Amino acid sequence: MTHTSLPFPDGFLWGASTAAHQIEGNNVNSDWWRKEHDPAAGIHEPSLDACDSYHRWEQDMDLLAHLGFTDYRFSVEWARVEPAPGAFSRAEIAHYRRMVDGALARGLRPMVTLHHFTVPQWFEDRGGWTADGAVELFARYVEHCAPIIADGVRHVCTINEPNMIAVMAGLAKRGEQGFPPAGLPFPDEETTHAVIAAHHAAVKAVRAANPDIQVGWTIANQVYQALPGAEEVTAAYRHPREDVFIEAARGDDFLGVQSYTRTKIGPDGPVPAPQDAERTLTQWEYYPAAVGHALRHTADVIGRDMPLIVTENGIATGDDSRRVDYYTGALAAVAAAIEDGIDVRGYLAWSALDNYEWGSYAATFGLIAVDRVTFERTPRPSAAWLGGLGRTRELPRDAS
Ligand code: NOJ
Repeated sequence: MTHTSLPFPDGFLWGASTAAHQIEGNNVNSDWWRKEHDPAAGIHEPSLDACDSYHRWEQDMDLLAHLGFTDYRFSVEWARVEPAPGAFSRAEIAHYRRMVDGALARGLRPMVTLHHFTVPQWFEDRGGWTADGAVELFARYVEHCAPIIADGVRHVCTINEPNMIAVMAGLAKRGEQGFPPAGLPFPDEETTHAVIAAHHAAVKAVRAANPDIQVGWTIANQVYQALPGAEEVTAAYRHPREDVFIEAARGDDFLGVQSYTRTKIGPDGPVPAPQDAERTLTQWEYYPAAVGHALRHTADVIGRDMPLIVTENGIATGDDSRRVDYYTGALAAVAAAIEDGIDVRGYLAWSALDNYEWGSYAATFGLIAVDRVTFERTPRPSAAWLGGLGRTRELPRDAS
């Protein structure tokens, strides 16, 4: 077996990511909780207890640290911190502060996301992101997160995948059901503007909490690949779904890159992967090289002086050997991007745990399996392997 040395710079973030609603359980004041219990929403199954990480976060962090990871990205749940407008819960703020301290005590550097898809139900009821005052309300929440992040937190993500928020808002406004067979629905432009404004306000609030914090946001990258002759169509398709959000990161301290698969675009738009293509449990084409393309595209749009962090990358599979294979290909692509001069500062796998994949538990992304009844955690072989790479930095290559 030969090896490739991973060319990670000093201080490289090496970790795994989660999000509050997907792992904590009983996020009862959130918009998603209500949606999950509304038969008209057509959601396959509700999140209920999720992984019970609200109570078991110490065990999760113990496992990650033990596996060899040095970084953990998790999110703060707005619906818990501000369960009613203007009513901030000291106990919940203290809870998330304990998580930060708990991570640090275990040698895990916390990367804290302030918004990961869910909003408080009251915020949704007053019209969500496009209602008057929404940006100010988000900024006020971020200000109240100061005790959580002001000390010991190096990286803060304001809003996770704002482009997907705008895409989902577009779907909802048009009353459309579900996603097209390939590509993404058109994002709602009003929501795009609102989340960009919210991000900019949040960046200010985070810097006011502590100017040493590296603050940014994390963009979903679909790796749009132009078929011959479709270069312009592809650029026009991608711009409102991706580039607008990358461009809005100018002035931030880093940009989070999240990718899983690719989407081919022909002269008439997105083209589904062939029937016989390998697919993951999310039905996405198995394409480990995606992250390399995502990093390169992001650097092309924002400029090479913007530090990039892979804040999510991974695979939903029932076959852990495919997970190892996916991460092997993905890390080879990250290494190649670094060697080509792209400033990549970290890699965080999605996900630490099998969790609630927005409507279903079927898509198992976890490095650590979670028993749905007992909540028992069982690290998969891929978890020890990936965690260990942070130390050895030797990526195995096929001897063939
Ligand atoms: C991106 C999202 O941030 C996360 O919540 C989701 O589970 C993963 N992608 C996988 O779809």
